[in-house]
Amino acid sequence: MARLSDSACLLAVAVLLSAEAAATAQPAAADCTNATFQAGRSYQRCSNLPVLGATLHWTYHAENGTADIAFRAPQTSSGWVAWGINTQNGTGMVGSSVFIASQLNGTAATSVITTVLESFRPSLRNGTLGFGVPAPPAAEYTAGAYTIYATVALPGNATTQNTVWQAGPVRGGAIAMHPTTGPNLKSTKRHDFLSG
Ligand SMILES: *[C@@H]1O[C@H](CO)[C@@H](O)[C@H](O)[C@H]1NC(C)=O
Ligand SMILES: *[C@@H]1O[C@H](CO)[C@@H](O)[C@H](O)[C@H]1NC(C)=O
Ligand SMILES: *[C@@H]1O[C@H](CO)[C@@H](O)[C@H](O)[C@H]1NC(C)=O
Ligand SMILES: *[C@@H]1O[C@H](CO)[C@@H](O)[C@H](O)[C@H]1NC(C)=O
Ligand SMILES: *[C@@H]1O[C@H](CO)[C@@H](O)[C@H](O)[C@H]1NC(C)=O
Ligand SMILES: *[C@@H]1O[C@H](CO)[C@@H](O)[C@H](O)[C@H]1NC(C)=O
Repeated sequence: MARLSDSACLLAVAVLLSAEAAATAQPAAADCTNATFQAGRSYQRCSNLPVLGATLHWTYHAENGTADIAFRAPQTSSGWVAWGINTQNGTGMVGSSVFIASQLNGTAATSVITTVLESFRPSLRNGTLGFGVPAPPAAEYTAGAYTIYATVALPGNATTQNTVWQAGPVRGGAIAMHPTTGPNLKSTKRHDFLSG
């Protein structure tokens, strides 16, 4: 009996430990409310996105249908993060117009490309998006997270959009495939820029 309950106890400890390991493998749940930004930027609203520890901060301008956004996600400086909008009424990656921030080739300079993901093996050519981008995007890497700053003309002047976000590695100076399991497959949200 004693033996049995000892091993039951060990099992319980093992289960707890693996639950903890699983929890720490994921970025901590973010709290967007007290975030601060470079260059005196501030935003009216924010939302903790459901996966990848990411947050979205924005100010919507009804008079011209644009939104100023800041997308923040934890990542090592040798990785990349991305945020965008699927302009083809899809809910996933293909058909999305995205901003991708990285420090390619280990240089400390954070750069942003804008690209339309035309397939699951996108060209990642820096080009024109499926919506207007009235000001040049920017990005920073601070305290273990990338932040992308952008202004977007919301497609169709609609306040609700299918948004996507992602994080992955840089290999050989190039943006490489993100993990294709778990949270990396859940990083989509129908986002309401009026209410969040
Ligand atoms: C955010 O700031 C408010 C007001 O300063 C403070 O009461 C609150 O504890 C802060 N929240 C976090 C998560 O730091
Ligand atoms: C949209 O309106 C806001 C608020 O008036 C303004 O700051 C911004 O420059 C405008 N953007 C464009 C592209 O006209
Ligand atoms: C977008 O819609 C708003 C009303 O919701 C309107 O005031 C504004 O003129 C529209 N902007 C554009 C660029 O169509
Ligand atoms: C967008 O997709 C939804 C669901 O797949 C569909 O019901 C809707 O008609 C589509 N809208 C447009 C404009 O294609
Ligand atoms: C992408 O293109 C824009 C506009 O031409 C340019 O300003 C930016 O530096 C380019 N980004 C990279 C990483 O090459
Ligand atoms: C990074 O390095 C690779 C391989 O040396 C090169 O092909 C690529 O153009 C570099 N990228 C940048 C942004 O300098």
